Amino acid sequence: MKLWAGRFQKETDTLVNDFNSSITFDARMYKEDITGSMAHAAMLGKQGIIEAHEAEKIIEGLKVILADIEAGQVEFSMENEDIHMNIETMLTQRIGDTGKRLHTARSRNDQVAVDFRLYVKGEIPKIIGMVLELEKVLVKKAEANLETVMPGYTHLQRAQPTTFGHYMMAYANMLRRDVTRLEDCLKRMDECPLGAGALATSTYPVDRFQTAAALGFQKPTDNSMDSVSDRDFAIEFLSACSILMMHLSRFSEEIILWCSWEFKYVELDDAYSTGSSIMPQKKNPDVAELVRGKTGRVYGSLMTLLTVMKALPLAYNKDMQEDKECVFDAIDTVEMCLPVFTAMLDTLTVLPKNMRAAASGGFINATDCADYLTKKGMPFREAYMIVGRLVNMCIKAGETLDTLPLKDFRSISNLFDADVYQALELKTCVNGRKVYGGPAREAVEQQIANIKAFVEAREHE
Ligand code: ARG
Repeated sequence: MKLWAGRFQKETDTLVNDFNSSITFDARMYKEDITGSMAHAAMLGKQGIIEAHEAEKIIEGLKVILADIEAGQVEFSMENEDIHMNIETMLTQRIGDTGKRLHTARSRNDQVAVDFRLYVKGEIPKIIGMVLELEKVLVKKAEANLETVMPGYTHLQRAQPTTFGHYMMAYANMLRRDVTRLEDCLKRMDECPLGAGALATSTYPVDRFQTAAALGFQKPTDNSMDSVSDRDFAIEFLSACSILMMHLSRFSEEIILWCSWEFKYVELDDAYSTGSSIMPQKKNPDVAELVRGKTGRVYGSLMTLLTVMKALPLAYNKDMQEDKECVFDAIDTVEMCLPVFTAMLDTLTVLPKNMRAAASGGFINATDCADYLTKKGMPFREAYMIVGRLVNMCIKAGETLDTLPLKDFRSISNLFDADVYQALELKTCVNGRKVYGGPAREAVEQQIANIKAFVEAREHE
């Protein structure tokens, strides 16, 4: 019989039963549901809303249910709709009528809100930990590649020389923002909705500060209607996950390009690549491609929840039961992508010769050539024009700036001297860019130190 059967004269149609039920996916919040119920029961006992021995009996009963679920000895039923009613029903079956007192001064609306928050709150530190592991690998790769010159691109055209170390630190900075975004969203969701009841609290002397503290929240939420209507925390979390995945998808795309024979800047470890069923020569970057692809799933989850919540009137609406699968899927996806991506990056081999060869090819030092003239007194715009003419000359003659004879340089400007060749060396171009944030060794070392400090501050917390 349904918990709410009193009001009804007919059984629920089986179609509706299955349709309405969320137990197939909200069962994963069993622990949060039980912890929330324990805190609620303890508060009811302390406030004299139920007898102290009743509270104890409820809590003991819940403990046994938790242990049984964890031992795989519990089967949930569709009939009982969701995790909340499954556990409550099970409690009463086991401890008798005292179990029926648990739901005093509570609704499934505040119950689901607190369970879901506790669940997401518990996953965020895991994800942050995984991002920090990736940061450590980026630091390692950067430290090993402070002098590994490679082309930097704009429009995917060779633009200015940089180093692989500088490149790795770019991603490290993106991921650092992901960590702080997740931390921010964790801070904002750290308020407990329990005690909001269906929407308007209750007439019992419920102590929401007590349950909030018992469940590890900073404080109770301020408004009971908002408490049961709000899914912002989940939307924020999904948006932080989407941005994180966007970063991983860009990184994946670059790794895919870099593994191609057209680039060959890196070689993936055999354990982190796959072969083809027909083409014997193939070594495919499937891991990077899948991470790139799975980014779409996480964006989809964000769109799902934004759309579910759009225009919903206050307070709880059943639409909101659609909030969980998308969040769970995003959590599973992000938690699956991060460790495999990190391991793939960790085991990847950098091919400095190929990077340098590419950097030497495409007039990547043209800006430096213009800067050379500028440092000798010529206005930059004029120098820029002259180097453009030189590049044109080189292309026609099949030369590069490094190989063009001095007389050709001087035919365009007599400010050019023999020292131009040194100014155009890739090493000079990179190490000359010592500006804060730049690719020179000491600038990248500073970036590495900043990321290390960021990671360490979190690991020693
Ligand atoms: N299974 C529901 C959900 O996930 C729990 C809340 C139900 N509340 C209600 N008033 N029907 O949203």
